[in-house]
Amino acid sequence: MKLLSCPSGGPFLVWTLAVQLVLCGSGVYASEGTDNCKLHLHSEKQQTALKRLAPLINKNFTVETTSDGESYTYVFQLCGDAGGVPGAGVIQINTKAEGKKTTVIGSYNATEAIGGSDWVMLMYKNGDKYEGHCSKENRRATIMISCDRNVEMGNLEVILEEREKDHECFYLFELDSSAVCPAVSPSSALAPYYSSLGSVFLLFTSSVASSTSG
Ligand SMILES: *[C@@H]1O[C@H](CO)[C@@H](O)[C@H](O)[C@H]1NC(C)=O
Ligand SMILES: *[C@@H]1O[C@H](CO)[C@@H](O)[C@H](O)[C@H]1NC(C)=O
Repeated sequence: MKLLSCPSGGPFLVWTLAVQLVLCGSGVYASEGTDNCKLHLHSEKQQTALKRLAPLINKNFTVETTSDGESYTYVFQLCGDAGGVPGAGVIQINTKAEGKKTTVIGSYNATEAIGGSDWVMLMYKNGDKYEGHCSKENRRATIMISCDRNVEMGNLEVILEEREKDHECFYLFELDSSAVCPAVSPSSALAPYYSSLGSVFLLFTSSVASSTSG
């Protein structure tokens, strides 16, 4: 047979299928939009961390904050123009200011991504410069994306703006998403199936037992 005469063909095919299944499952094929982010450091680890976020692509995440009579709207987009502002990954809109002043907090052409088991931390640097804080450095945004299996994409939340330092000030945001959850291992994915098989078996044996004893 032809297949047998080509011993490396079989395993290779299986391997390719397995890789494709994994890729499809993790949503890499669904969108390649994370390529629009320019990683600060071209490391494979950062690339991998960034790709885990692919399901969040093409969406403006918005949050409003109000305090001390000030009101801001923040918009975050993964590797795309936040609120339609070219190059911006996170923007801040001062809703009370004249003309709704927009400030770029971070740009997606200066991205860093760090991944842990059930979270990915995304950093956008190169935002607009501070005027009176942080030695007038460029603003930067950090978005902490944490695993929550119950939500595909949660709500964006503002955690804090750290600007009382001389350097390395940042805005911190938080977002829950199932996108960054660790893959469920096949054995635990099948566990409910096995346990229901088990209970069917128990039901069956107990009904057999009761009908034979009755
Ligand atoms: C994000 O918001 C901007 C401004 O409202 C809009 O032009 C753009 O189409 C939105 N992008 C997506 C992917 O929804
Ligand atoms: C990102 O783009 C801006 C213009 O939108 C440019 O000024 C800046 O140098 C770019 N940064 C990097 C790291 O490419």
